[in-house]
Amino acid sequence: MKLKIAVLPGDGIGPEISRVGVNVMKAVAERFGHDFEFEYGLAGAAAIRTVGDPFPEETLRLCKDSDAVLFSAVGDPAYDNNPDAKVRPEQGLLAMRKQLGLFANIRPIQTFPGLEDKSPLKEEIVKGADFVCVRELTGGMYFGEKFESDDKAYDTNMYTRPEIERILRVAFQLASRRRRHLTVVDKANVLASSRLWRKVAQEMEKEWPDVTTDYMFVDNASMKLIQDPRFFDVIVTENTFGDILTDEASVISGSMGLLPSSSIGESTPVFEPIHGSWPQAAGLDIANPLAQVLSVAMLLEHFGLAEEGKAVRDAVDASIRQKVVTPDLGKGGKSDYGTEAVGRWLTAWICSAAV
Ligand code: IPM
Ligand code: MN
Repeated sequence: MKLKIAVLPGDGIGPEISRVGVNVMKAVAERFGHDFEFEYGLAGAAAIRTVGDPFPEETLRLCKDSDAVLFSAVGDPAYDNNPDAKVRPEQGLLAMRKQLGLFANIRPIQTFPGLEDKSPLKEEIVKGADFVCVRELTGGMYFGEKFESDDKAYDTNMYTRPEIERILRVAFQLASRRRRHLTVVDKANVLASSRLWRKVAQEMEKEWPDVTTDYMFVDNASMKLIQDPRFFDVIVTENTFGDILTDEASVISGSMGLLPSSSIGESTPVFEPIHGSWPQAAGLDIANPLAQVLSVAMLLEHFGLAEEGKAVRDAVDASIRQKVVTPDLGKGGKSDYGTEAVGRWLTAWICSAAV
């Protein structure tokens, strides 16, 4: 298969994990005889510094001209503590989501055999947890009308029926292919926007009789995620709730560095880790590249390359089994392997399919 990939390494640890992701894709191309072409674009603080825009027109064009985007991370502490900053790296990510119409963000949460003890939760609670959070990504407070002055500020949490319907459709479809259990997470006891979500979901539920649909308030869901994560199969929720719940859910896996995501919608799909740019670790060769590598697996699977995706997942499982991991997953937070070494091991494994 011929695929053109737009690579956006971004900031912080982004370039390091991006290199590993690209090398893994090259290894897959070599082993399975595909033709993957990579073209690089600027995003985030790196783009602000170079051209003054966190998501330049040229990057948008590159994304639109590509089959998929392999994104890494954006964010820079220089902007975090400056509420007056006019442009922020994160605006680049939000602009990309909006301009590519990426309304559905799929975040699978799983535990990895051999890493159960990495979670701060008890092993008997997290073992076998396996669910997907479908986060709405182009609406809600992130994009609603805003106002900001020294005395007053607000963000508007607005959703329209078509926006709710299209994300629910993705979630129902996913649930019907999995264990057929969908949990709609909202705050319908307080928020008008949530009440519309619930109303639309209750209408659509009838079209999916084979899916068991239940409804949970977001505060309750945040507790249930920790108490009984195996309860969940597919969660669907609005942008802000999905942002918060998926960071929380990452502690089930044991490391933020393990969770990939795909964002799909009207234009080119984007594949990216759920973690941020971890600026403190930039250049130290300690960042876990697995979330990026698993994002590559999701990319391959998106294009129907199931065997290729499995090869990548098998390589990840093997590296964990053989303890070829970065310090976050090592014993006592230590490891002899860095980002690059883990990447080399994974590509060698994929090329030879046995180590
Ligand atoms: C995420 C991130 C982003 C978000 C930030 C970097 C804007 O936290 O992808 O979850 O809030 O959506
Ligand atoms: Mn987040």
